[in-house]
Amino acid sequence: MEQQQNAKVILGGNTFELPVMVGTEGERGIDISKLRSLTNYVTFDHGFGNTSNCESAITFLDGEAGVLRYRGYPIEELAEKSSFIETAYLLVYGSLPTSEQLRAFSESFNQHSMLHEDMKNFFKGFASNAHPMSILASMVCSLAAYYPGIDAMNPTQADFDRIVVQLMSKVRTIAAFAYKKSQGQPFVYPRYDLEYIPNFLNMMFSSPINEYKIYDEVVQALKVLFILHADHEQNCSTSTVRLVGSAQANLYASITAGICALWGPLHGGANEAVIDMLELIHKDNDDVDKYVEMAKDKSNRFRLMGFGHRVYKSYDPRAKIIKRCAHDLLAKLGIDDPLLEIAVKLENKALTDPYFIERNLYPNVDFYSGIIYRAIGIPKDMFTVMFAIGRLPGWIAHWKEMMDNPAGKIGRPRQIYVGPTQRAYVSINKR
Ligand code: CMC
Repeated sequence: MEQQQNAKVILGGNTFELPVMVGTEGERGIDISKLRSLTNYVTFDHGFGNTSNCESAITFLDGEAGVLRYRGYPIEELAEKSSFIETAYLLVYGSLPTSEQLRAFSESFNQHSMLHEDMKNFFKGFASNAHPMSILASMVCSLAAYYPGIDAMNPTQADFDRIVVQLMSKVRTIAAFAYKKSQGQPFVYPRYDLEYIPNFLNMMFSSPINEYKIYDEVVQALKVLFILHADHEQNCSTSTVRLVGSAQANLYASITAGICALWGPLHGGANEAVIDMLELIHKDNDDVDKYVEMAKDKSNRFRLMGFGHRVYKSYDPRAKIIKRCAHDLLAKLGIDDPLLEIAVKLENKALTDPYFIERNLYPNVDFYSGIIYRAIGIPKDMFTVMFAIGRLPGWIAHWKEMMDNPAGKIGRPRQIYVGPTQRAYVSINKR
C-alpha cells in the first residue's frame, strides 16, 4: 500500500503525526489507532459515517460516482453475465472460478441442501404468523447445534469450503420452509436436478398437488437481485458480522447477528417497508405529493422508504438495474402493478424537489426490488429473507477476510461518557 505524508494533529500546542493510508482506488484515510496512546484523545464519529474499521479487498464502492465493483468487476457486468453461484464464488474466494471449480462448487450445493430431520421440528414450534426473519435467524443460529463449525483461528480449507456451501444451501431451504410454515403447507424438499434458484422457487411454490412451473424470466430476475445484493462493503449487517466474528464467534453465530441487523427497516427491512408505503399511498388515492411533503416535514417521522443512502450521493447503481428489471419482468409476465406506477411517480416527484436534490437522496436498492418480488408471488414479509439469501456470500467473504488477517483485533469502540460523575450510594429508606 502506497504511503503518504503523515497527517498532523495539533492538541494543546503539541503536534502529533498520524500515518495516512491510501487504498488501491485512491481512497485516503488517517490511521488514528495510536491517537489515544499518543494524546489521550479518542475520535467521535456517531454512526461511523467517517470511520474505516478494516482494510478490505472485497468490494469497491464510490458513492459520489455511483460505482460498485465486486473484486474489481463492475456489478453491471456481473448482473448481466454471471450467475449467482459464480458471483458468490468470486466474493468468497477472490477470483472467478474455472469451469471445473464452478461445476464442483455448484454440485456441492446438492450435498448440503437438506436440513437435519430433527430441525424440521423447530418449525412446528414457531407461531404460524411468525415473521420469516425471526425464523431465519433462529434456524441459522441453530445450525451450529447440528453441523460442525470451523476453528475460527485455524480453519482447514476443506472445512471452510464445506461451511460456505452448507450455509448458502441450507439458508435457501430454511427460507422456503419458513414460507411453507406461514402457509400451513407441507415442506417441499430440495431436488438434485434443479439449480440454485429454480430449486428455491420449487421449494417455495410447489405442493403435493401442484408442480410450480419455473419461468426463465423469473429465474433471471431473481438472479439479478441476488447478485446485486451479494455484497455492499461495510454496511450495517456486514459490520455486525465482522464485530461479532471479531470475538471469534463461530460463523453461524456471526451470520445470525448479520441477519438480525438486516431485519431493521433502515437497512434490509426497507424493501418490505417500501411496499407498505406504496400500498398506503395507493389506498390514499395515489396522492404522491402528500407523502413527499410528509417526508420533508421534520416534525413528522415519516421518511420515503427506499430513498437515501449513507454512502451513495448519486443514483444507487443497483437501483438503476433493478428499476429496469422490474419494468421488463412485469411486461414479460403481463402484470400491471399499480404500485410500480406510484413508485415511478414518487421517484420523479422527489428527484425534482429541492429537499431531495440538496440532500442527494435517490432511490436505493430497496425501492424497486419489492415490485419484482410481488410479481413473482413472494409475500412482503419474505422480502428481507430474499435480501439475506443474496447477502450471504458477502457476509461469509468478510468473515473469512477478517479471520485470515493475523493482526485481527476484537472490535471494541470507545465512547464519550456523559453520565453522572461519582456519587455515594443512598440506601433505599433514605431516598
Ligand atoms: N426521506 C426523507 N428524508 C431523508 C431520507 C428519506 N428516506 N433519508 C435521509 N433523509 C434526510 C434526513 O432527514 C437528513 O436531513 P437533514 O440533513 O435535514 O437532517 C438528511 O437526509 C441526511 O439523512 P441521514 O439520516 O443523516 O442519513 P444517514 O446516512 O444517516 O441514513 C438511511 C441513511 C438509508 C438510513 C436514510 O437515508 C433512510 O432512513 N432511508 C430510508 C430507509 C431506507 O431506504 N433504507 C435502505 C438503505 S439501502 C439498503 C441497505 O444497504 O441497507
